[in-house]
Amino acid sequence: MAEVVSVSMSGDIALVSIDSPPVNAMDQKVRAGLKQAFEQLRTRQGVKAIVLGCKGRTFVAGADIKEFDTGIAPPGYYEVLAAIEDSPCPVVAAVHGTALGGGMEIALACHYRVAHDGARFGLPELTLGIIPGAGGTQRLPRLIPLEAAIDLILSSKPMPAAKARELGLADAVVSGDVAEGALAFARELAARGAGPRRTRDQAVLGAENAAELFETKRAQVAKTMRNRQSPLALLDAIEAAVKLPFDQGLKAESAISDRLVPATEARALRHLFFAEREVRRIPGLSAEVKPRPVTRLGIVGAGTMGGGISMCYANAGVPVTIVDATQAALDKGMATVRKNYERSVARGSLKPEQMEQRMKLLTPSLDYAALGEADLVIEAVYENMALKKEIFAKLDAVVRKGAIIGTNTSTLDIDEIAAVTKRPEDVVGLHFFSPANVMPLLEIVHAKRTAPDVLVTALETAKQIKKTGVVAKVCYGFIGNRMMDPYAREAEHCLLEGATPEQVDGALEQFGMAMGILAVFDMAGVDIGYLTRLERKHLLPDDPTFYRPDTMLNERGWLGQKAGRGYYRYDSARKRIPDPEVVELLWAEGKRLKVEQRKPGTAEIQERCLYAMINEGARLLEEGVALRASDIDVVYTSGYGFPRYRGGPMFYADTVGLKAIYERILEFRRTLDPQYWTPAPLLEMLALAGSSFAAWQAGRGNQGAIST
Ligand code: CAA
Repeated sequence: MAEVVSVSMSGDIALVSIDSPPVNAMDQKVRAGLKQAFEQLRTRQGVKAIVLGCKGRTFVAGADIKEFDTGIAPPGYYEVLAAIEDSPCPVVAAVHGTALGGGMEIALACHYRVAHDGARFGLPELTLGIIPGAGGTQRLPRLIPLEAAIDLILSSKPMPAAKARELGLADAVVSGDVAEGALAFARELAARGAGPRRTRDQAVLGAENAAELFETKRAQVAKTMRNRQSPLALLDAIEAAVKLPFDQGLKAESAISDRLVPATEARALRHLFFAEREVRRIPGLSAEVKPRPVTRLGIVGAGTMGGGISMCYANAGVPVTIVDATQAALDKGMATVRKNYERSVARGSLKPEQMEQRMKLLTPSLDYAALGEADLVIEAVYENMALKKEIFAKLDAVVRKGAIIGTNTSTLDIDEIAAVTKRPEDVVGLHFFSPANVMPLLEIVHAKRTAPDVLVTALETAKQIKKTGVVAKVCYGFIGNRMMDPYAREAEHCLLEGATPEQVDGALEQFGMAMGILAVFDMAGVDIGYLTRLERKHLLPDDPTFYRPDTMLNERGWLGQKAGRGYYRYDSARKRIPDPEVVELLWAEGKRLKVEQRKPGTAEIQERCLYAMINEGARLLEEGVALRASDIDVVYTSGYGFPRYRGGPMFYADTVGLKAIYERILEFRRTLDPQYWTPAPLLEMLALAGSSFAAWQAGRGNQGAIST
């Protein structure tokens, strides 16, 4: 028997135990071990019941995702789960940690489920662009009502043990050792002489109005999960459970699953699953380098960013001292934080006492000396080099030796900021995204002199506050904003060429961006980009059309949502309303500047914005600003609303084909302003070689390592 699965006896109860770190994923060894264990137990004399549990931190956390690309070696999921379900004596799953995907499907194939009170059950397959492919779509609606089953899988969110008990999925919930609890449960079954209770033999629950229910869910999915195929396919699979006998239902599930696994949507989402874990591995950084502890935080600037960052740390139980120049700024900042927490309380996601605990962790102060004990101080004032330098000089004087000083700059040269201190090795960029307490991305900027343990601490503190930390090197805008620049430049130019803001944003949103870029500017404040451009005016192209719409809106004070109008007008609920005055103004300006009136359509808008962004991404890779193409994908999907199901800009580029993108860029060079359309040498090289960013990354090994 494969050693990852062992069998032992406790009296007349057999204990089957999976031990396959880190998360007991159901790989080939686990499948083979389970099948063998259950086949042997079938004929073993004197076994009255079986408990199936896991060692380590969790019950099986799913199929082995790596196998989806390499193919599933036998035995397959159905074979293994049938061996469990066929058992002639009752099988009790002992669930702790997270029973996810194939793990939950194992639990569903068991005859009874005993859960630890901290356990969670979930089928998150849609986050991977697939459906539960080990019987989950057929068994779950036989254990809990149909609509609850659909909602659980559509949400991809695991449900807590108590809810599982309430719905009838878990037969018992225990605190303490779940294996003991399941054993006691199994003994009781044995004492009663209970037989197996096979899920497959039960009827689907709550299927009376199934046709209407599926119609409603399909309409809902078409609206909320646009451009995706797996959610609709999921509904087809669950509907098969209602319409077909179990075995035929499994066949339907299997056919749908086989179609989805190799499709682009699933490949893109798998790519991100691994990319989000890969970002933690920094080539060239020794595993011996240990992080410095972050137990006390300092923040400079009580504005939107400073407040949001403070909340991240308070949520993680870390005390925060917030310094600002005036009492009014501190009061306003603290009031905003409280209001944000109150909103969570009103939504029910936070208890009032938790809010109070978190507020107590925040100490406002007017005195920089109050930051003297902090382990990490993050400067979060607006983008102005002179101001940041002044603050860093002050911090250098008060912050204790060994503390780290971070800057939340989104564009500025961190080497220049660090140079005003006597300890540039303790300085690092920590670029949060607004709203900082919500957005999952943290861009970690490794400046020229940042010490290795400071970089490791930055990665660790990202984890501490549940963010995905991605390392970049210093350049204007780092990874995210640098690529955003040409993307937005094209969107802006289209407005001068006769497109409306709705057409531009509509094209980007149709592609799948969470929000069109013009609506993003309105939300963030149209002045933000404008002020940043003023700071680097000397570096900008000599082109009167460059970001001209943005400049014109600024000149008129049409700064977006906060002004009630920007690219759009806004009602009191901040709903976008098209504004013909803006359209006229920008079209007239385009004509005045002799911009060709191309009236770009959806496809052209998408191609121009996205290919300009991808081309810049290729430059970032050449320059070593981003370590990996997949890091760029993580930045864009977790910080910029790029659709996850397209895998991020660089993965998307590979799916389009670099040759096709390269040729389109050459065409844009011929037909648009050539100064913006020089293919990046890396893109050109890969396109001409018929290669891809993924292949380039795979062949690179440790090149591009952080030099420490
Ligand atoms: N397959 C392969 N590897 C997996 C895995 C899986 N299902 N789940 C986790 N891992 C790996 C991770 O890649 C990571 O590896 P590295 O350390 O080498 O980077 C390691 O296990 C630890 O994972 P995390 O860092 O994510 O650990 P965590 O404690 O933060 O989270 C977890 C644990 C909640 C289980 C999380 O890993 C997770 O959500 N895993 C995926 C769960 C999932 O989606 N399951 C469904 C799979 S699809 C399926 O099952 C289809 C089917 O119907 C048969």
